[in-house]
Amino acid sequence: MSDDSAQQQGIEQRISAHIAHNARVWNYWLGGKDHYEVDEQVGDMVTSMYPSIGEVARADRAFLGRAVTFLAGEAGIRQYLDVGTGLPTVENTHEVAQRIAPDARVVYVDNDPIVLTHARALLTSSAQGATSYVDADAHDPKAIIEAASRTLDLDRPVAIMLLGILNFVLDTEKATAIVRDLVAAVPSGSYLVLTHPTLELGGEGNEAAMKFWNENATPPITARTGAEVSAFLDGLELIEPGLVSCARWRTEGTEEGPLVAQFGVVARKP
Ligand SMILES: C[S@@+](CC[C@H](N)C(=O)[O-])C[C@H]1O[C@@H](n2cnc3c(N)ncnc32)[C@H](O)[C@@H]1O
Repeated sequence: MSDDSAQQQGIEQRISAHIAHNARVWNYWLGGKDHYEVDEQVGDMVTSMYPSIGEVARADRAFLGRAVTFLAGEAGIRQYLDVGTGLPTVENTHEVAQRIAPDARVVYVDNDPIVLTHARALLTSSAQGATSYVDADAHDPKAIIEAASRTLDLDRPVAIMLLGILNFVLDTEKATAIVRDLVAAVPSGSYLVLTHPTLELGGEGNEAAMKFWNENATPPITARTGAEVSAFLDGLELIEPGLVSCARWRTEGTEEGPLVAQFGVVARKP
C-alpha cells in the first residue's frame, strides 16, 4: 500500500458517522452538503433550542471575509495560519486573501478527518501563492508552528486565525498558553484574529444548547466572557472596533446582520 493510501485509510478509520462532529454540523448550519444524518439531527436539535445558531455561523464566516479583506488590503498581510479551518465553504481564507494579493500563502490546520480530505481536494491555491493543509490538534501549537514553517516564512508577519476553535479548548489556561505560543512564533507586525462564543451577548437558549451539545456531540465546547477572551489578547493592540459581536466588526458598507453571541476581534502584535 502506498503512503498516501495508508494515510487515507487511517483518516477513514477516524471518521465517525454515528456521533455528530462539529465541523460537519457547522457545515450543515452554513447550508453545505458535507455531513451525515446524525449531524443534521443534532444540528436541528441545537437550532430548536438556540434558534440563532445559524445566524452565528453565517456571521462568523462573514466576519472572516471582512477580517481577511482588512488584513490582505489595509494591513498588507501575505501569510495566514488558519487553525480550525472547518469544511471548505464559500469565501475560504485563501480565496479572500488571494483575490486581493494573489501571492498570499495560507496554511490550514484542522484535526477533523473529513476536513482533511476535503481541504486537500478543494483548498487549492492561486499560481503565485500557496496553500497547504496540516492535520494537527490545536492543543499542540509547537507541532502546528513546525508544520506551518514549511509553507510560511516565520520571519515575516503572519495572521494567526483562531475562528471558533478556542471554544474547543476547555481549559482557559491551556487556551491562553496556545495563543501565547502561536503569537510568540511570529514577528512584530503579525496579527491575531479570533471568534469565540459567549453567553454575554444574548442568544436565547445558547447555554442549554451547549449543554445538549456536550452530552450528544463532539468535541465538547465552552463559552467565555469578554474578560476571558480579552485575556487572550494581552500585549496585543486591538484594531478598531476592538472586541465586539463578530456581526458588528467593521460592517461599514455592508448590510449589518443580526447581533450574534459570538465575539470577533483582530489584534496586532506590536
Ligand atoms: C466552528 S468550526 C469553525 C470553522 C471556521 N474556522 C469558521 O470560522 O467558519 C471549528 C473547527 O475547528 C476544528 N477543531 C475542533 N477542535 C479542534 C482541535 N482540537 N484541533 C484542531 N481543530 C479542531 C473542527 O474540526 C472545526 O473544523
